[in-house]
Amino acid sequence: MNATLDHMSSALNSCDENSPFMLENEGAYQAWRARKLRYRQELTATKVYPLIPESGLPDAMLDQIRKQVAAFNFVVFESTVQLGKSEFLALNRQFGLQDLDINLGADEDKVTSLQVVSESDKRSQYIPYTSRGMNWHTDGYYNPDGRRINAFALYCVHQSERGGDNFLFDHEMMYLLIRDEAPNLLEALMCDDMMCVPANVEGNRVIRAAETGPVFSLQPGTCALNMRYTSRPHNIVWKSDRQSASALNRVREILMDGKTMIEIKLREHQGIVCNNILHGRQAFHNGAGMPPRLVYRARYYDAINFDKALA
Ligand SMILES: [Fe+2]
Repeated sequence: MNATLDHMSSALNSCDENSPFMLENEGAYQAWRARKLRYRQELTATKVYPLIPESGLPDAMLDQIRKQVAAFNFVVFESTVQLGKSEFLALNRQFGLQDLDINLGADEDKVTSLQVVSESDKRSQYIPYTSRGMNWHTDGYYNPDGRRINAFALYCVHQSERGGDNFLFDHEMMYLLIRDEAPNLLEALMCDDMMCVPANVEGNRVIRAAETGPVFSLQPGTCALNMRYTSRPHNIVWKSDRQSASALNRVREILMDGKTMIEIKLREHQGIVCNNILHGRQAFHNGAGMPPRLVYRARYYDAINFDKALA
């Protein structure tokens, strides 16, 4: 440990000694690590859980779904009929997800309809509303400290003819891989000034203020691991000392290596509920004579929490 500790996320202070994500808690970390890797051996990441809208998540599968989340931080589900946006939100509430974020392109109900929009639509300047691919990121990495995105959910209404696959990388596995080989790099990634996203300015208007924060942090109260990251090369300022540069480089290498990545192309009526894992999307092509790709997205300040769902 060194002086960088002074700059490490202040949220660390609110987590008790049982958190596996605090670097000094080696025993808790090893126990968590062993359990996570065991679950990942036992379970299949892309297993699809059936969902009946009226009855919700099947009780008989709840234990396995909890394990699925612990192992991969995401669950794939398929509804028997097409969900409307309110049913989509109701499903997410069963995972304890209630505190919705709102972003620039969201609809009134705070659900975002991800689809290609016309060039005259202001949203067309943002990649999610085009058919272009999206590289590795976590959602809302530009959000301020009090509005960290800890989970999101997707639901496929219509899929594209070609492309549109999602690629996923559990952010807890990123933490685990780096902690196993170089915990000092995690110190850098947990510094409050590791990553700065400059302000989003249109004309003379500041749409979003500049935001500086850590890559990894622990959320106050729950101590869930949060990750802020984007692989976009522009409009990001990374801390540039040697340790920070090595840490960033290691994250990039691990993502490029691709071993722990999971790829999935959601079919109609399928969705993902996940903590804010690293993810991206392939470019896609909508087919002639078929409905264009439409995916609902909801972002949450909560992390998945089944106890909260059952309360
Ligand atoms: Fe995203």
